[in-house]
Amino acid sequence: MIPFNKPYLSGKETDYIREAVASGKISGDGLFTKKCHAFFEHTYGFRKALLTTSCTDALEMAAILIDIQPGDEVIVPSYTFVSTVNAFVLRGAKIVFADSEANNPNMDASQIEPLITPRTKAIVPVHYAGVACDMDAILALAEKHNLFVIEDAAQAIDSYYKGRPLGSIGHLAAFSFHETKNIISGEGGMLVINDERFVHRAEIIREKGTNRSQFFRGEVDKYGWVDIGSSFLPSDIIAAFLYAQIENLADIQRKRKMLWDRYYAALKPLVERGVLDLPAVPDYATNNAHMFYIVCPSLALRTGLIAALKAENIHAVFHYLSLHKSPYYMDKHDGRALPLCDHYADCLLRLPMYYELTEEDIRRITTAISQYFQ
Ligand SMILES: Cc1ncc(COP(=O)(O)O)c(C=O)c1O
Repeated sequence: MIPFNKPYLSGKETDYIREAVASGKISGDGLFTKKCHAFFEHTYGFRKALLTTSCTDALEMAAILIDIQPGDEVIVPSYTFVSTVNAFVLRGAKIVFADSEANNPNMDASQIEPLITPRTKAIVPVHYAGVACDMDAILALAEKHNLFVIEDAAQAIDSYYKGRPLGSIGHLAAFSFHETKNIISGEGGMLVINDERFVHRAEIIREKGTNRSQFFRGEVDKYGWVDIGSSFLPSDIIAAFLYAQIENLADIQRKRKMLWDRYYAALKPLVERGVLDLPAVPDYATNNAHMFYIVCPSLALRTGLIAALKAENIHAVFHYLSLHKSPYYMDKHDGRALPLCDHYADCLLRLPMYYELTEEDIRRITTAISQYFQ
């Protein structure tokens, strides 16, 4: 069986976990957490990086930080994971869904302005498959209408927009280190704070609403309850695991990009025959090879292809369902049709992608796809 995903291991994870345990400090913000923060801040120029227990938590922190109040509106793509939206719904926001681009599942920035009202507070671009949204267009709207931009960079580690690292562009950004991502810690995430105004409060929200971080730095002589918050910080055991991955980031990226290029080259003839579509990476974006997907011509053909691949012991999976049609939000949505989102929900198929995937595996997978579309 070629699985859809296989977690990458550098081999140092358990050594670093042992080191963290031996240090006698395995709760949050220990030695390895600090090393991870320093790496991300130094490598990508983030003003402040804070590890969290998931990207979901980082998004929830972002919603608290921009002070979402009941009735505030947030513009989010409908083609995304529930957490992108849930974080804001938890604080009472009304979600205004944006459609995808024609040649890319990312939110179509050219269609956002008519969605903005006096109640709009934020735009949340999701860099699908690690490919950047059109950030200049989104930032221009945010500036014109005085909105916050929160990047959902769950899949976007080590990817760039016009040379700027994703996650460094919005006021805030959220990353995931869930085991399906390029670098992982089982479950895990990170909030990035690029706007100085949020740095101090982010530390408090992450520490259950207390100023404990300031206390440990010796900036206050006792700590107490100063704001709302929750337990968003991970144990140093999680950070130790993540650090072992970070050290190999360059090698992971090189290998994944090589695999991605192999897929693309093998499937390109099917695009030329008009049988399927492949990912389009705009000129302004880089490809971090987080995912390799194809876009089938119809839901029926995709369903058939999943079964045909399964018969060959290959596990391929579809992705998001349109959130504007979800059982939870359907009757709260304003009724606009979002046909491109529905198209990706019906037709996009993710192929196996992980460090240990071999060129022979890719040959098997792409041969099976070519035979299906013969
Ligand atoms: C776009 C997006 N945002 C948020 C998340 C949530 O990430 P996590 O599982 O780390 O909470 C995911 C999960 O894969 C995602 O794809």
